[in-house]
Amino acid sequence: MVEPPNRLRRLSAVLTSTVLAVVGSGSSVSGQAGLQAEVTFTKDIAPILQQKCQSCHRPNYIAPMALMTYEQVRPYARAIRQQTAQRTMPPWYIDRTIGIQSFKSDMSLSDEQIGTIARWVEAGAPEGSPGDLPPPIALPEVSSSPVWELGEPDLIVRSPTVTVKAVAPDWWGAIGETPTGLAEDRYVRSVEIREVNDVDPRELARGGTVGGLFVFHHANFGLAGPDGQTDPQSRIPAHEVGRNPDQFDPRAGRLLRAGSTILFFDNHLHANGVVETNAHLELGFRFHPKGYKPTMEYRGIGFGTTEVDLRPNEANQEIDAYTVLQENAKILNFEPHLHATGVGMCFQAIWGGRTETLNCAGYNHNWVRNYQYTDDSAPLLPKGTILKITGYFDTTAKNPLVYEPRNWTGWGNRSVDNMIVNLPYVVPMTDEQFAEAVDERRKKIAAGQATPIGCPTCYLPEGAAAGSSRASR
Ligand code: HEC
Repeated sequence: MVEPPNRLRRLSAVLTSTVLAVVGSGSSVSGQAGLQAEVTFTKDIAPILQQKCQSCHRPNYIAPMALMTYEQVRPYARAIRQQTAQRTMPPWYIDRTIGIQSFKSDMSLSDEQIGTIARWVEAGAPEGSPGDLPPPIALPEVSSSPVWELGEPDLIVRSPTVTVKAVAPDWWGAIGETPTGLAEDRYVRSVEIREVNDVDPRELARGGTVGGLFVFHHANFGLAGPDGQTDPQSRIPAHEVGRNPDQFDPRAGRLLRAGSTILFFDNHLHANGVVETNAHLELGFRFHPKGYKPTMEYRGIGFGTTEVDLRPNEANQEIDAYTVLQENAKILNFEPHLHATGVGMCFQAIWGGRTETLNCAGYNHNWVRNYQYTDDSAPLLPKGTILKITGYFDTTAKNPLVYEPRNWTGWGNRSVDNMIVNLPYVVPMTDEQFAEAVDERRKKIAAGQATPIGCPTCYLPEGAAAGSSRASR
């Protein structure tokens, strides 16, 4: 066995060049210097770091260095310019040159912020006047504890603790169950799942495996009511390595019944290759007000293929997978799921003879991202639409997450095998509901308040928007 190189630290730079080549993302930050006021750390850079970086880059948490003070930041100025210009940090890989651009909890930097960082570094990374420094932001008291990205939850449910040896084969199985202790039925507005572990990030800097910041590479949850039954509208989305929180459609809250228990019945654990780790998951639920009733349902329509055949040592390999929408649907999210070799995915909708690219994104199996559309950007697609994903793979040594570039690899459950899946949730709609939603979207597009991408029937004559309209044309 070949020891993995120091992957985590080198990951981002290499990954980006691949993604740039494959999906053409990235943005230029040159040519912005000029007769502008001096950019300083205290005035311009510290606020950006507070807003977009310190939830991870603080002492004794997952990032390799804290970015709190000027002294901590200065040695990394060039690395920060590079990673932000390539959009590998913060971890949010949406290609900004194509597709829908409006997401809930978008953690990425604006072009302007990236430009400010670049100008600051080009000017020699000056500190500026201490009086300009903004007051520190609130961070968890225990430095090793993750930030709740959506704020303090109404209910936190903790899984049993697992111990994963430093070097061990991947493992799948049940780890127990936890009662929610909930005294009355409540509808869930958002759920945030985070792994809490005892790994010192300085240990991980010695190397490690793909996704090695976390040992839970996925977790599927069951929800049993007091009678042991599961309600079909109660599903909690799967957790994946490094994944961001879910915010559900406001009309499709998810039921958490009184006296229910969370079953941790299907977990994939992956050793980090460096140090024995104790870890548990915390599920943070935020509720709708009491008395809330959902007016829409939702469904998961995850799709992909197991026919994965990747040649060794070759970049720019592509695999496609398809599904057909069985109902008119509002698509709530784009969640590319690949494994170590995956470097990007595009998501397209084919209807009425036209193909629309909804989104393309880079991929990094340390950070599985669930890109959730805002209400006015969520695609509205009629029944019969073909959904297509194209996964991009790089099996060369240039991809720092590839363990052995000389190997052929195929589909498999281990993080070092391959996978290609997209995990969208949808709100299914009757023809009437769909026609109404399309009319509303049409007006918003005309008023410049909604994206024109992802609503093919918005361009049909008024009143012809329902899923059945195609047959009558
Ligand atoms: C969600 C957590 C998270 C956020 C938010 C985040 N980082 Fe990181 N960052 C990490 C981790 C973890 C690493 C180690 C590499 C990896 O896992 O991708 C890292 C690596 C880096 C590196 C490379 C360090 C090196 O050794 O060269 C730079 C530079 C960096 N981050 C800058 C930033 C900046 C600037 C921001 C905000 C604009 C930011 N990061 C936001 C978690 C984060």
